[in-house]
Amino acid sequence: MAERILIGVAWPYANGSLHLGQIAGAYLPADIFARYHRLKGNEVLMVSGSDQHGTPVTLRAEKEGKSPEEVVSRYHREFIDSWKGLGISFDLFTTTGTENHGEVVRDLFLDLLDKDYIYKDRMVLPYCPNCRRFLPDRYVEGECPYCHNLRARGDQCDECGKPLNAADLIGAHCGICQGTPEFRESEHFFLRLSAFTDQLQSWIQDKSYWRQNVYNFTHRYLADGLKDRAITRDIQWGIPVPVPGFEGKRIYVWFEAVIGYLSASKEWAKSRNNLEEWRCFWEEDAKSYYFIGKDNIIFHTVIWPAMLLGYNGLNLPYDVPANEFLTLKGRQLSTSRNWAVWLPYYLERYDPDPLRYMLSINMPETNDADFSWQEFVRRNNDELVATYGNLVHRVLTIAYRNFDGCVPQASADDADSESLLSRAEDTLHAVDSLLYGCHFREAMREAMSLAQEANRYLDNKAPWKSIKEDRDSAATAISTALGVICCLKTVLYPFLPFSSGKLHRLLGFESSIEDNGWAISVLKAGQKLLPPEPLFTKLDDAVIEEENSRLEESVLTPG
Ligand code: MF3
Ligand code: ZN
Repeated sequence: MAERILIGVAWPYANGSLHLGQIAGAYLPADIFARYHRLKGNEVLMVSGSDQHGTPVTLRAEKEGKSPEEVVSRYHREFIDSWKGLGISFDLFTTTGTENHGEVVRDLFLDLLDKDYIYKDRMVLPYCPNCRRFLPDRYVEGECPYCHNLRARGDQCDECGKPLNAADLIGAHCGICQGTPEFRESEHFFLRLSAFTDQLQSWIQDKSYWRQNVYNFTHRYLADGLKDRAITRDIQWGIPVPVPGFEGKRIYVWFEAVIGYLSASKEWAKSRNNLEEWRCFWEEDAKSYYFIGKDNIIFHTVIWPAMLLGYNGLNLPYDVPANEFLTLKGRQLSTSRNWAVWLPYYLERYDPDPLRYMLSINMPETNDADFSWQEFVRRNNDELVATYGNLVHRVLTIAYRNFDGCVPQASADDADSESLLSRAEDTLHAVDSLLYGCHFREAMREAMSLAQEANRYLDNKAPWKSIKEDRDSAATAISTALGVICCLKTVLYPFLPFSSGKLHRLLGFESSIEDNGWAISVLKAGQKLLPPEPLFTKLDDAVIEEENSRLEESVLTPG
């Protein structure tokens, strides 16, 4: 029976280019998972979109002297190009600026208001007398009341990950002028999170299959008991509060952005002229997975589930496989210091699959992982090219040259060949269950070790030699190795879709690789091969130096 899998991926703020940290954290694992499930014949809906609202966007607009609209439309277009270039296969990548999203947000807001899960109250908010404005949470800085990190912001502490209100900060100061904010009273709406503590605690009881950091973090957070949170703000940029008297205020970006998963699903259904089709992915035994970086855990394991519980009837997350962080040459990525590798920059210069390879084999799943150009070049040359690319190229070339451009007929049974082919079967199943459980790095390692094994087999059999004296045994070796390659192109497809597709064509298949499904495709003796072409290119070591010096330069000229 086909499963129905909803894949929600973090909505990137449309205030700057995507960097490799975001790719390794959320977009690549989500795409691997989606491609895997589609090959398995499951129904997948993978959605996300540009997060248009929030202070990150207005801050950027102010800095550039542009309107928020201009900023978001520029980056939204850029994101879409980036997905295409890197092969991130969204079923829909929309924005929080659509009329549809606004409607779904209003509907959910009013429903929760009606049920008294949202209520009106007065609250004191930071107001900077110097700047003469209410300060958004992120603009207020100070000491975290939990872990005493001195550089916490009014929305959350990056050190201990706890969400905060500006008023919680010790020694709060204005992030713009460093002055001391006053706290002024104003009227806002609150989400009654406290009503959901018990339900959420029992909900996570059977989530022991979650990644440990995600589970523990959520567990600890719930153990403290949930506090109600304000979900409106004194700002102009955002979704209006659908209640008279609140014209000058907007819905808090986090409350509405997570609703994007639902509104995007509805938009997708509309685009297919099947208005209720989104329900297949939100009800009954459909499963929802949310791919996010670790800084977004609580919003997806606590706040969004609480909102869904209040709204009632839609599936809560099945899994939230949040990744840890990617560092760059051992240091935290920093947008403001321009310490990052930007995706558009990468895609202008290099192929997508080597990056997908590098970020998969070294994915920050259970620990932070590091990216450096040196490692990138090494992994490309010594692993992708030398192990997998080389295997494929040798086999295709010998077959093409010596067997009339066709798949040779395997003749004699041979124990080594049989055991290699059964190893390929095992790999197909092992990678299958690893991907099913979101163990991406392990899955990639498993696949690569089959390629290594096949190289050893080939070195032993040396068909390029035996072809002269024993054509039959050379034919068997080549046909066996081609069988392994047929397995590799499948198990590597979720990770390396471009080269797998190319390999599929080089092997002479006419159907698309997607139609092949999760299987070792059968190569018939006599099938015509295409003239061999290398799958990957070796990179010159000079790339390392060049890229490193560009990185250092860019730090000196922050954007
Ligand atoms: N825009 C937020 C960020 O980049 C993530 C939002 S995820 C969402 O950190 F689901 F809430 F949209
Ligand atoms: Zn100020």
